[in-house]
Amino acid sequence: KSIDELGDLTGKRALIRCDFNVPLDGDAITDDGRIRAALPTLTKLRDAGARVVIMAHLGRPKGEVNPKYSLAPVAKRLGELLGTDVALAGDVVGESAESTVAALADGQVALLENVRYEPAEESKDEAERKALAEKYARFGDIFVSDGFGVVHRKQASVYDVAKLLPSAAGYLVAKEVEVLRRLTETPERPFVVVLGGAKVADKLSVIDNLLGVADTLVIGGGMAYTFLKSQGKEVGESLLDESNVETCARYLEQAGAAGKTIVLPVDARVADSMDFGARTVTEVTVVDIDNIPADQQALDIGPATEALFAETIKGAKTVFWNGPMGVFEIDELSRGTAAVAKALTETDGLTVVGGGDSAAAVRVLGHSDDEFGHISTGGGASLEFLEGKELPGIAVLEEEK
Ligand code: 3PG
Repeated sequence: KSIDELGDLTGKRALIRCDFNVPLDGDAITDDGRIRAALPTLTKLRDAGARVVIMAHLGRPKGEVNPKYSLAPVAKRLGELLGTDVALAGDVVGESAESTVAALADGQVALLENVRYEPAEESKDEAERKALAEKYARFGDIFVSDGFGVVHRKQASVYDVAKLLPSAAGYLVAKEVEVLRRLTETPERPFVVVLGGAKVADKLSVIDNLLGVADTLVIGGGMAYTFLKSQGKEVGESLLDESNVETCARYLEQAGAAGKTIVLPVDARVADSMDFGARTVTEVTVVDIDNIPADQQALDIGPATEALFAETIKGAKTVFWNGPMGVFEIDELSRGTAAVAKALTETDGLTVVGGGDSAAAVRVLGHSDDEFGHISTGGGASLEFLEGKELPGIAVLEEEK
């Protein structure tokens, strides 16, 4: 159900789950993409005269109140973007939340404190979650699910509360699902999937599922070295997941047998060491992929790989990209990620950037959202969607009540 089908919302309390899990540097939000992505739904609800009550989380406070994870910076930024005050409750379901919600007039917006301050929010015990969801449900006449980045979590504010109130998908969730369905069900071909990031283990099931749908898989980032190792190459001190070398070899074989291509780096930028905290790296050199020195680590793809990946991407009609090609937060190691981002902007077809990190990366690298077909707000959620898993926060909206 869409929010356009909820009938007259004047004076109704619309309880909405958003994903405002934004990257912070101290109190400063370094990428507000997830907040901006919620604006169409929030504006629609306000214009319809609803009293908007937002539930959101920040980080992983693990059931404890911790000012480090307060949603105060989010309330401030959201207020600026909406051009109205956003009242931040001092708690999640306590007296402050109650009085903040009770004080709302039509069209006004309140934000509850970080729902993950409540231990039951993420509990595995359904009864515990349900008891908390009942408290949330007292704040709403209807429930709107618009936090796409959390729909893969079976949590009280995402899943259980949707069982208790008339519910609908917000515009963001509806759009994300529509675009990702196009990728898995009716992609225009060639369909190229670009995967990066550090951990190959996180991407194995998505590779498994996408080998059936995509025409070409381009693999960079730290995860590429486990694939290269499976081809018998020496990767020096680069990231390596020994336990998955055989699985990578199997995927390479499987892809070949199915007439699909897996494109791997042909050169790399290597260094002795880096200090991520200080954002520094020792001298960076470019080496051929067969010549990674035993005592060095590959930290970004090299220029020949940039060209190869860009050419592959630009030949596509559909591209999905998740995960950086190197340690893009350090200037000298951001070129590979920048090259992939640029290639996507020059591709004539549907380009989808998936994942919190990749979405933040394209913005940090100076691109604007409208240079891409779609920037997904979901990291884990978009990957689980592409893995073919059922997402609890979506499935629950489709259930009969
Ligand atoms: C995200 O950042 O991907 C979402 O907000 C989900 O956060 P989580 O992985 O802590 O559940």
